[in-house]
Amino acid sequence: LRLLHPDRPLAGRSALVTAGPTHEPIDPVRYIANRSSGTQGYAIAAALAAAGADVTLVSGPTTLPDPAGMRTVRVETAHDMLEACRAALPCDIAVCTAAVADWHVAPAPQKIKKTAGAPPPVLQLAPNPDILATLSQPSPTRPGLVIGFAAETEHVVPHATAKRLRKGCDWIVANDVSPGTGIMGGTENEVCLIDATGCEHWPRLDKTQVARKLVARIATFLQTPHP
Ligand code: CTP
Ligand code: CA
Repeated sequence: LRLLHPDRPLAGRSALVTAGPTHEPIDPVRYIANRSSGTQGYAIAAALAAAGADVTLVSGPTTLPDPAGMRTVRVETAHDMLEACRAALPCDIAVCTAAVADWHVAPAPQKIKKTAGAPPPVLQLAPNPDILATLSQPSPTRPGLVIGFAAETEHVVPHATAKRLRKGCDWIVANDVSPGTGIMGGTENEVCLIDATGCEHWPRLDKTQVARKLVARIATFLQTPHP
């Protein structure tokens, strides 16, 4: 199939992409979330689909429409995102771009009311599951290539290199999202691709170009035999 379609090097492969933020409810009207538009993740999902992969996009709440040519599963919380990812296994490639909230709270069943003079409520945070680390664990259904993202505000390469080892993923795409860069919420991205052999710095590119370049790397990796 792949030899017949050189422009679709991922034909016959399946891919899972997480994207967007997660929302962790505090009560029926409030939530905890990270800043994430979902743009980079949706662009990667689209580039994987364009390369012929069968794509499942597991997306937290975004304002972006469901992309054409793939299965989109909409979720709210980190717990639901993990369940949707598990349901998408087995697959060949997993790319975790989602800005998953690190904590959740036990949500109040009714809207928490302000009471004059009373102390403000204190949120008791509990850790969320780590989806990337879970997908990276050795298992018969571990995707052959697991890729994470690391948005850092300082010491980008050392932090991301340590994160790759901690999570157990194969590659990590690191970027500097500190306020001066203008990356956060923008249409461009400037990343380093980190694997077991080191770090490769890419120039600042449109997020769709970053996606295409990453997918080209994925295709090359999967075409190369690995012991
Ligand atoms: N990630 C995930 N599930 C989580 C947290 C993070 O799948 N509960 C994934 C993200 O999608 C990303 C990678 O892990 O691909 C790195 O996320 P990041 O928030 O940078 O890592 P953390 O381990 O949460 O570290 P930090 O303390 O920097 O937030
Ligand atoms: Ca985090």
